[in-house]
Amino acid sequence: MKIAVLGVGTVGSGVFNVIQENQAKIQEILGEPLTITYALDRRQAEDLDVDTTHVTVTDNIEEIYNSDVDVVVETMGGLHPAGDFIATLLSKGKHVVTANKDLLANRIDELVAIANEHNTLLLYEASVGGGIPLLNAVETGLAANQITSLTGILNGTSNYILSKMDFDHWSYEQALQEAQVAGFAEADPTNDVEGYDVQFKIAVLSRLAFGLSIDADQIQVSGISNINSRDVEIGNDMGLTVKLIAKGDWLGEDRVSIQVAPMMLTQASPLANVHYAQNGAVIQGNAVGQTALFGPGAGSMETASAIVSDVMQIAKRRYRPKNFTTTRQARMQIDERPLNYYVRFKREASKQTAEILEALGLSKDQIKIKKSGVALVLDMALELRRELEANDQLAAIYQIEGEL
Ligand SMILES: NC(=O)c1ccc[n+]([C@@H]2O[C@H](COP(=O)([O-])OP(=O)(O)OC[C@H]3O[C@@H](n4cnc5c(N)ncnc54)[C@H](OP(=O)(O)O)[C@@H]3O)[C@@H](O)[C@H]2O)c1
Repeated sequence: MKIAVLGVGTVGSGVFNVIQENQAKIQEILGEPLTITYALDRRQAEDLDVDTTHVTVTDNIEEIYNSDVDVVVETMGGLHPAGDFIATLLSKGKHVVTANKDLLANRIDELVAIANEHNTLLLYEASVGGGIPLLNAVETGLAANQITSLTGILNGTSNYILSKMDFDHWSYEQALQEAQVAGFAEADPTNDVEGYDVQFKIAVLSRLAFGLSIDADQIQVSGISNINSRDVEIGNDMGLTVKLIAKGDWLGEDRVSIQVAPMMLTQASPLANVHYAQNGAVIQGNAVGQTALFGPGAGSMETASAIVSDVMQIAKRRYRPKNFTTTRQARMQIDERPLNYYVRFKREASKQTAEILEALGLSKDQIKIKKSGVALVLDMALELRRELEANDQLAAIYQIEGEL
């Protein structure tokens, strides 16, 4: 089967390398080899880091539109022109595999409609959780379930920073700088540290898991840039670890609650031990119960693993293409169930911790004072949380995941 690769950067070159390294296994499964015949990049063939001996390298997409390739791998990233390239390719009968979560979070329903109209496939396993086969798990392996919740660590950069703060007692700024030097964070880390990258990913994952069209803009998002290393340390002393969590909960019919926020995890949470650049997700299904997947959320070969597996899926499914499609729009709601929280008050109010909490209407049983100014609050209703957040004596509040 003939393939074109758009963008031969980190992931695109991984696609060349995975196919080259595993061609014998691939051919055994498919009964035919995968052959990259075209590549689109701004650089010339000789400037690419891959073997382009039998590849036509061009910067003109028209050549690929008019070529005989069956599948196009989009690894250039960004909304434009990648989105229009994909739309045109799908309408010209080319199947597409992409790792572009930004684009999918914005245009997935539209692109799937184009694919369906033209009997083509659009697959995107690499867009969420890099090399971890998360989308396949929810779409195929867990298809018989009503998925009731998804909880994930889906951004390696922010997880790396939080791990450095946790284990090495670094400040947020120190950890970010080190992540940039080590190549785990980009020069402009906004998308990663403010939670936008995770917002795109949980939108794509929730669409498949809950079977609903998701408006990514309606997801409540807060990132890690305001995390105080004091809370990381205090949490650590109490067996709690701070992670940037993406959480989707199914609330019945077409109602879902989706949020991205730093949360504290107890050791009982399977995600509590997902550190540094690793990603992971815990999926709750009504038949299977709890399942979890962990692994590399990024990387050249790691991400290409998911892309080439998608290309192989296309080789098997191309004669009966069927994309997951939904016409039901998710109704986004806030999950109002009572939850457990870590709270810390400003130094001047630390003596009044219990009084402030009791004045909200919380009972003594719900309040566990841990140290001066710090308490765990059990089963706090959403409206009380809101009241507490408005209290100007509050220094920090984190939702707690996992049994206490
Ligand atoms: N890196 C990861 O680990 C990872 C993991 C999961 C998903 N992804 C996704 O995979 C995609 C690619 O990421 P990456 O890290 O491989 O990026 P990258 O290293 O920057 O590679 C992108 C390549 O595409 C080229 N390109 C971009 N726009 C182009 C255009 N209009 N015409 C021709 N060439 C163009 C770039 O050339 P220039 O450098 O000249 O712009 C570059 O060679 C993104 O959607 C990203 O979100 C990445």
